[in-house]
Amino acid sequence: MDGKIIVVTSGKGGVGKTTATASLGAALALEGNKVAVVDMDIGLRNLDVVMGLENRIVFNVVDAVKGNCKLKQAAIKDRRVENLYLIPASQSDNKDVLNPEEMVKFGKMLRRHFDIVLIDCPAGIERGFENSVVSADEALVICTPEVSAVRDADRVIGLLYARSITPKLIVNRIIPQMVENGDMLSHTDMVDVLSIELIGLVEMDDHVVISTNTGMPLVLQKNSKAGEAFRRIAMRLNGNTDVPIQVPQSQKSIFKKIRNKLGIGG
Ligand SMILES: Nc1ncnc2c1ncn2[C@@H]1O[C@H](COP(=O)(O)OP(=O)(O)OP(=O)(O)O)[C@@H](O)[C@H]1O
Ligand SMILES: [Mg+2]
Repeated sequence: MDGKIIVVTSGKGGVGKTTATASLGAALALEGNKVAVVDMDIGLRNLDVVMGLENRIVFNVVDAVKGNCKLKQAAIKDRRVENLYLIPASQSDNKDVLNPEEMVKFGKMLRRHFDIVLIDCPAGIERGFENSVVSADEALVICTPEVSAVRDADRVIGLLYARSITPKLIVNRIIPQMVENGDMLSHTDMVDVLSIELIGLVEMDDHVVISTNTGMPLVLQKNSKAGEAFRRIAMRLNGNTDVPIQVPQSQKSIFKKIRNKLGIGG
């Protein structure tokens, strides 16, 4: 049976596409899927560093698409997570080096070899976006609780619908205390504006930086709230839709609930 291709996109840069791709890739592989994560941010590759695989690159996605190497040669096997493969971006080309027709063909090849393919889309809505979405079956839109990110996500969602793809939303970098104080957009406001299905809420978490700097997958870090959130999103993507979405809460509001339960004032 053919695998499915999921594009991870956002419009706005720096909202967590690469972090989400690496984390969901690892979580889905840990659940037993054969997974490829493909870095389509040609010229600005990053996914290899986040996954700690930068020293093992020989061929890249441009080589694989152009037939300069076999798919197997471009797919780097992760040593920490069984069943996880990275197809890195090339560093020396620009995004126009590939075209959508080539990407459709490449997508067919990827589907034959993997259960799930996650595409790390570059920021923007130009050729790099086009190449990333053209063969996707599903889309995850990453958005942070900022007005500019929501506006860009809205634009991207429109472009995805135009391609008959129904995207799902991940809200990333939530700071619960700020949401509770009314200083940050809440996920309910964002879902209202964007009107798409929510699949996960990820809070701001220092473990993301530690993971990026060490190459240790976030989802393997036991105490990481963001890691836990991505594990839950992976379960939902895997068809376990009864896994509830947990709403991040500040320490203050957790303590308040405990105090109320115990009947202690304050
Ligand atoms: N939940 C989080 N908590 C803390 N830091 C985060 C979180 N998610 C992402 N970051 C940090 O935010 C920065 C941007 O993340 P990332 O590179 O994944 O975004 P991106 O959307 O892929 O960016 P680009 O558009 O440049 O490709 C990184 O430094 C990353 O470590
Ligand atoms: Mg990125």
